[in-house]
Amino acid sequence: MAGNGFNIRAVQDGFAGEVTGIDICKPLTRDIVNAIERGMDQYAVLTFPDQPLTDEEQVAFTANFGELEITLAGQMAKPEERRFQQLELGDISNFNGADTTRLRARDDKRRMYALANRLWHSDASFRPIGAGYTLLHSRIVPSKGADTQFADMRAAYDALSAAEKQEVEGLICEHSIVFSREQIGFGEYNPGFEEHLKPVPHRLVFTHPKTGRKSLYLSSHIGGIVGWPVPEARAFLRDLMEHATQPQFVYSHKWQVNEMVIWDNRTVMHRATRFDDLKEVRDLRRTSLKGTGLEVRLPAMAAE
Ligand code: OGA
Ligand code: MN
Repeated sequence: MAGNGFNIRAVQDGFAGEVTGIDICKPLTRDIVNAIERGMDQYAVLTFPDQPLTDEEQVAFTANFGELEITLAGQMAKPEERRFQQLELGDISNFNGADTTRLRARDDKRRMYALANRLWHSDASFRPIGAGYTLLHSRIVPSKGADTQFADMRAAYDALSAAEKQEVEGLICEHSIVFSREQIGFGEYNPGFEEHLKPVPHRLVFTHPKTGRKSLYLSSHIGGIVGWPVPEARAFLRDLMEHATQPQFVYSHKWQVNEMVIWDNRTVMHRATRFDDLKEVRDLRRTSLKGTGLEVRLPAMAAE
């Protein structure tokens, strides 16, 4: 038992859970941290309502689960374009950088870049090691829209036929931020980041190191499959994406203020949904961790 009152209530069967009975603004015992990790392995998405965290508390809470990552968006932004100078803290808002009296203009480049969050994706899958957990905390939520949706890639894998499971096993996909952005017609990257734009390989089937459960490591950042002609790979991936995002695999999260949501990018995809971002404010803070078990062993290397 993790202690006094800690409880996880299933929000959507076996997929999302709501955690109550703890105060995540304060330092946590190892028991509680372990209980949250076990909850993440079981559910893949956990929500923590009524947690009025400060930025510092969010960073401290995140550090319980591993080493914090710096987002590519944060890295690429010029200092004067950034809202937070601490790069581990991602600005998921529509404010005009540090100027919180203004919203981003319709054609603002940062707005264009962030609009790709509306595509189903797994965070940082365009990196050699993608993100493990992402932690998103809400400060201001608009009056309507702006839900975050999650798709359970374990259930999507389980629902494949035996023949399909055999077909996806061993496939290596190529992920790049360029592939997801080009789907919405965005291609303006600051110079000096060419290395970060190159495709990286990831196995399509992820095996969870603790539970042994398999899932589909899908993401809109994927633009090809190693050894496949590009059109064939993209047509195949479209079918697989359509399969994996059917309503029975999806949980739509409606945000309350001061809510923390954690998801495991290795086992779920997610996407933002629309809201009136030219008129209403939405302010969330994001932290994320490197995903363990995502190291790629290419078939040629694995044979050694
Ligand atoms: C993210 C993300 C979704 C949202 O922060 O990585 O995809 O609803 N956010 O803001
Ligand atoms: Mn994301």
